[in-house]
Amino acid sequence: MINRETIDKIMDTARIEEVVGDFVHLKKRGTSLIGNCPFHGEKTPSFHVSVTKGIYKCFGCGKGGDSVRFIMEHEKYSYPEALKFLAQKYNIEVEETVETVQDLEAQNAKESLYIVSQFAATFFEDQLWNNSEGKAIGLSYFKERGFREDIIKKFNLGYSPDVWDALTQDAVKNKHAEEYLEKTGLSIRNDKGKLYDRFRGRVMFPIHNFTGRVIGFGGRTLKTDKNVPKYVNSPESEIYHKSNVLYGLFHAKKAIRDLDNCYLVEGYADVLSVHQAYIENVVASSGTSLTIEQIRLIGRFTQNVTILYDGDAAGIKASLRGLDMILEEGLNVKVVSFPAGDDPDSYMHKVGAGEFKTYIENNRQDFILYKANILLAEAGNDPIKRAGIIRDIVESIAKIPDNIKASVFIRECSSLLAIEERVLLSELNTMRAAKFKKASSPQARPAQYEDMPPADLMADNEPQVTATATTNDDLQEQEIVRLLLAFGHELVSWDKIDNMYIGSFIMQNLTDVTFENALCKKIIDHYRTEIENGQLPTANQFIKSEDREVADLAITLSTSPYTLSENWYNKHNIYVRDETINLKATILGGLYHLKKRKVDRILLDLLKEIKMESDAANQEILMQRYAFIKNVEKEISRFLGSVIVK
Ligand code: GTP
Ligand code: MN
Repeated sequence: MINRETIDKIMDTARIEEVVGDFVHLKKRGTSLIGNCPFHGEKTPSFHVSVTKGIYKCFGCGKGGDSVRFIMEHEKYSYPEALKFLAQKYNIEVEETVETVQDLEAQNAKESLYIVSQFAATFFEDQLWNNSEGKAIGLSYFKERGFREDIIKKFNLGYSPDVWDALTQDAVKNKHAEEYLEKTGLSIRNDKGKLYDRFRGRVMFPIHNFTGRVIGFGGRTLKTDKNVPKYVNSPESEIYHKSNVLYGLFHAKKAIRDLDNCYLVEGYADVLSVHQAYIENVVASSGTSLTIEQIRLIGRFTQNVTILYDGDAAGIKASLRGLDMILEEGLNVKVVSFPAGDDPDSYMHKVGAGEFKTYIENNRQDFILYKANILLAEAGNDPIKRAGIIRDIVESIAKIPDNIKASVFIRECSSLLAIEERVLLSELNTMRAAKFKKASSPQARPAQYEDMPPADLMADNEPQVTATATTNDDLQEQEIVRLLLAFGHELVSWDKIDNMYIGSFIMQNLTDVTFENALCKKIIDHYRTEIENGQLPTANQFIKSEDREVADLAITLSTSPYTLSENWYNKHNIYVRDETINLKATILGGLYHLKKRKVDRILLDLLKEIKMESDAANQEILMQRYAFIKNVEKEISRFLGSVIVK
């Protein structure tokens, strides 16, 4: 178990904006930071980070929490794994109290995979630079291809000796368990039960996750034998999931964010060469065709992708479909293609770093126009083929979530294809309608609030606004919980009460109220029990609650728009100031709005009963009760009027 002091140190150090910022492209808005939520696909940002509160909250999918929670959700880590991840990020030494051997094993299993992978990377690197075979074969290969030493070192390239078990032997000698060598795929067990190396006689490209830890390898053969696969890659393991990894991201992420663009290439060699041309915002989807996870991974750093293509036409056509996926994720896609026969790597070495950079800058094309041009050239004058192209192009345009952007492309393609805009638009609308139908199944619909600024959404917190719109008292009940969390610890003296905590005051005033929302009731009941035991609960207690539902609600209510949205400030500036300055009005307002809701509901029920009642005498009794309660309601309303006006 990680000890308390370590946990506290991590919590104090791990700043939410830095932790989240590694995964989400955050922009400042007012007092908070916002970005596209990494937990659900969205095109308009509804993911908020409150620096002062140290928490994040997505108004689209509802996920929220602190730094540790974020890492747990995002990396699918357990609690201790997330803590260790953060400890590593901030160079905090983790002090652990040892529990059972099993506990320790479970916690350390994944860590062991990282450790043995790093060991292998160091081994291969050492072979490349310090071993005669490595130098003569591996290093000289890289140098012949024109790679500079600083690039070879930066990417920790290496060499695996051309023998059966060089790495395996060295790892075992250094006390690495065979189990982990096998699990990472570095070693393979043969029929006789003996371990041998997966990578032999290859130059090695370690694959880093984007925090810089080695998770796998690509090994390139130096033989020209066609029967030998050019690349051997690490298999999937607990730490290496191919579809979620972009080669080079660790080295590229800062530049991607700074330059707000990401170059996408195909191979390891391309990444190195583009780097060598002093272009650092480059990654490769190496080994797999581009996956949706990889696109989203890029989307966390920038909305702009530029694909650097080989010059061969077959490859381009094959990948056009894959690129539609990028459009669908709302990213802007540009394309640079190289002269026939060249890929980014060969072209860079042919023309040199300077000219390469200029070429890239001058030859960017928008993907859709690029695609249109390629298909047009291919179709020639064949009218049927040309008609097919129109569908194809409009299909791509229909994937663009942003309407304005889409209509710009419609206009440009209309002149390119020599087709009236109107025709393209009607095609577009037909496709959109079909797509919408598909998307309206409850599963596929985007989160309810995706396109709405949270401020407007949260305006509903003002109880009266929605009093008639909803069929339950959830908002009013939540408001009480919010007030307890926000102000429960403030000491006040109002009229007849003297030096009382707002938490106690609220609880005293709730004795005649029944909470109907199960979650609010749970929190209120817990609060009451604590107070009865002489404890005043803190907001943090609920935010950090082990009960996920309780924690989620507490976080949602603590990240109210009062602190999160600039919009809200602008629109409701006075209200915001009143909330804290005239605390009494705020608290009493919350309490009496709730009471009014409850009374209104009783009145409504009574009315129904009166209408249904056929017996005149019974009706009379009900009417009297109604009149009595109506008076209570009036008093509450009058009181509310006087409190709120102040
Ligand atoms: P060079 O040929 O040295 O320029 O390497 P490259 O990295 O440019 O590779 P290439 O463009 O041929 O292929 C692109 C990527 O596809 C590579 O980086 C590998 O990730 C992957 N790849 C290529 N060949 C193989 C193979 O034989 N097996 C596997 N598993 N992956 C391959
Ligand atoms: Mn290549």
